[in-house]
Amino acid sequence: MKLILIGPPGAGKGTQADVLSKKLGIPRISTGDILREAVKAGTPVGMKAKSFMDSGALVPDEIIIEIIIERLGARDCINGFILDGVPRTIAQAQALDGHDVAIDTALAIEVPDEDIIERLGGRRVCPDCGTTYHVKSNPPAKEGVCDACGAALIIRKDDDADVVRNRLQTYHRETAPLLEYYKAQGKLEISVSHSDVTGTAAEIFKILGIS
Ligand code: AP5
Repeated sequence: MKLILIGPPGAGKGTQADVLSKKLGIPRISTGDILREAVKAGTPVGMKAKSFMDSGALVPDEIIIEIIIERLGARDCINGFILDGVPRTIAQAQALDGHDVAIDTALAIEVPDEDIIERLGGRRVCPDCGTTYHVKSNPPAKEGVCDACGAALIIRKDDDADVVRNRLQTYHRETAPLLEYYKAQGKLEISVSHSDVTGTAAEIFKILGIS
């Protein structure tokens, strides 16, 4: 299956992509994770991307397109993949189409803006293994400590309330037009996110016909 997850920041794309990746045995590919690794490692891509990410703007299309086309050429993508947060502009979607990346489904996760503020305000992430938690809806067993690897959890810099507002505006202006783009191709499915992770996963499984 070649699946795209589209949704505002904090919609649960990463959370659901992890669930689907384990269930289907195909990789989750997150441009956000790839860029954060590049920033951490101080690579030329990371240095270019950092200021855009810190302010809640999108990283320029040419950088993203190069990253994603290279990643999709890896062996683990042969049987399918889940794209988490990419494409995020019409230009990125057209680039995928231009490289014959035959997407099966573009799944939009809809969440009201006010829920996004609550979700990102309570998000905690593991800097080592990337596992994501929420202080209320999905807390770790021991406060502030990753269940999976024991590292101290952190708050993402771009989860600051002002940056979240910018990210939401960016989503509505630059990414939401993708819904029409994939609708016109007959590939759009919409999931209205439940207030818990399991309910959302159950709905997504139903939409995708996964038992
Ligand atoms: P990226 O890392 O992709 O951020 P994002 O799209 O803003 O998405 P998030 O990771 O914040 O949220 P999510 O939807 O994955 O939600 P999560 O599952 O964590 O991108 C970061 C930046 O990189 C961008 O701003 C941009 O600068 C750049 N970038 C990346 N890709 C790019 C591209 N293609 N083009 C240009 N620039 C790009 O869940 C959020 C919280 O809610 C968690 O705490 C979770 O536990 C909780 N939660 C999840 N589901 C539920 C639920 N159903 N009920 C209750 N709580 C829930």
